[in-house]
Amino acid sequence: MAIKTVKSLNLKGKRIIMRVDFNVPMKDGVVQDDTRITAALPTIRYILDEGVKSLTLMSHLGDPSKDVKKAKEKAEKDGRSFDEAAYIKGKHRMAPVAAYLEKKLGSPVIFAGEDGCYGKKAFIEGQKDGAVIMLENTRFHKEETSKEAADRDKLAKELAGYGEIFVNDAFGTAHRDHASTASIAKFVPVSAAGFLMAKEVQFLEPIVTNPAKPLVAIIGGAKVSSKIAVLESLLKNASALVIGGGMAYTFLKAQGHKIGKSLVEDDQLDTAKSILEAAKKTGAEIVLPVDQVGAETFDGAAMPVPVDGADLPDNLMGLDVGPKTIALYRDVLAKAKTIVWNGPVGVFEFDAFAKGTEEVAGLVADATGRGTVTVVGGGDSVAAVNKFGLASKMSHVSTGGGASLELLEGKKLPGIEVCR
Ligand code: 3PG
Repeated sequence: MAIKTVKSLNLKGKRIIMRVDFNVPMKDGVVQDDTRITAALPTIRYILDEGVKSLTLMSHLGDPSKDVKKAKEKAEKDGRSFDEAAYIKGKHRMAPVAAYLEKKLGSPVIFAGEDGCYGKKAFIEGQKDGAVIMLENTRFHKEETSKEAADRDKLAKELAGYGEIFVNDAFGTAHRDHASTASIAKFVPVSAAGFLMAKEVQFLEPIVTNPAKPLVAIIGGAKVSSKIAVLESLLKNASALVIGGGMAYTFLKAQGHKIGKSLVEDDQLDTAKSILEAAKKTGAEIVLPVDQVGAETFDGAAMPVPVDGADLPDNLMGLDVGPKTIALYRDVLAKAKTIVWNGPVGVFEFDAFAKGTEEVAGLVADATGRGTVTVVGGGDSVAAVNKFGLASKMSHVSTGGGASLELLEGKKLPGIEVCR
C-alpha cells in the first residue's frame, strides 16, 4: 500500500505533532552536521504555509542512558572525572538543535523546556497561531524505547494530545518501534508521512519490490555479519553484487584465497559460501576484488602496497581495491538501470586507501547522468559521497543508516507502516 503524505490532508487550523530525526552529531552543544535538519525543512515549511495552528516537533538526540553509561565507563578507565550533567547538556539537550532550526527556518522555534515531553499541552495551546515548538529529547523518557507496549503507549498518548494530525518525517528512525515513531499513531485521528519519509520510501522500496533492471548492488563495509540479510534480499533482483571493503575478505577466504592479515569473520565463512551458492542459482554475478592495495598496519600513514591478484601475502592486510577491480566495476555499473550502494569498498577515511571508494562514487555519479537510478544509503557511503563532493550527483542519498538497511532487507518498518 502506498504511503499517505501530508499533501493529501487538510492542515488548515490544525495542530500538528511531527516526528523528525534530528539525531545529529553534537559536540559541546554544537550541531556538527545539519543534513538531517535541512532534510526536514521542506515538510516543515509546507506545513507552516498551510496555515496550521501549531507545529510541534519531537526527536531523539543520541541515547542518553546508553551514552552516559559508556562515557562514564570510559572516563573511569582513563582515570578522568565525569560530569554527567555537562555531558548530557553537550550531547543530548534539544535546545541548541531548536536554536539551529530557528536559524535555518528563518522564523521562531520555541523550545518547550528541559523538563521533558510530558505536560506540554497547555504550553502548546498557549502559543500564537502558526507557532513552531520543539520538545526536549524524547529519549529522556524510558517509555520512548520500552519493550513494553503499555509503557510506550503512556508517552504516545501524551504526545498524541499535542496534535490532531501525526506527521512522521523521521526516516532515520523509521526502523524503531518507539512511542514517538509508531505507538503515537494509535492515538491520533490521522497519521501521514512528511516529504522526506515519502522520498526515502519512493527510492528505497522499489529496489526490493520492483527495481528498474538490471539492478547492481554495491555492498561494502567492515562486516559481513551486519549485511547478510541485505545481501540475501538484494540477490532476489540483482544481476550483480559488488562486494567490497573489509567484508570482501571473508568472501575471498571462503573461495580459498589467501587474505594475509585482512579483516575476516571466520564464523561467517559458511554464510559467505551460501551467498556465493545462492548467487549461482539466481545467476547474479558476484564481483570481488581481483587486485588490491594492501598495508602492513591499519594506519593512515601506512605505506600502500599494490597487489595484483586476489591473494594477499601474509604480512599485508587489504585496505582498498586496485585498478583492475575498478575497471571491473566500470563494466558492471555501465549496464545497470538501478544502482544501490551501501558501504565503502576501502578505508576511504585514509587518503592513501580512498581511491577505490572515490572511483565508485564517480562511477555511480556518472551512471546517474546516463539516467540510471542511483541510491546511496548507510552512514559510511553517504560520508564518502559527501567527502568527494558527489552527493548532488546521486538520484537519492538516504538520511537513514539502519533504516535504509532494514528497508533493503525487505523488512516492514514501524515508522513507515503507520503512514499507510
Ligand atoms: C540513526 O542515527 O541511525 C537514527 O537516528 C536512529 O538512531 P538509533 O540507532 O539510536 O535508534
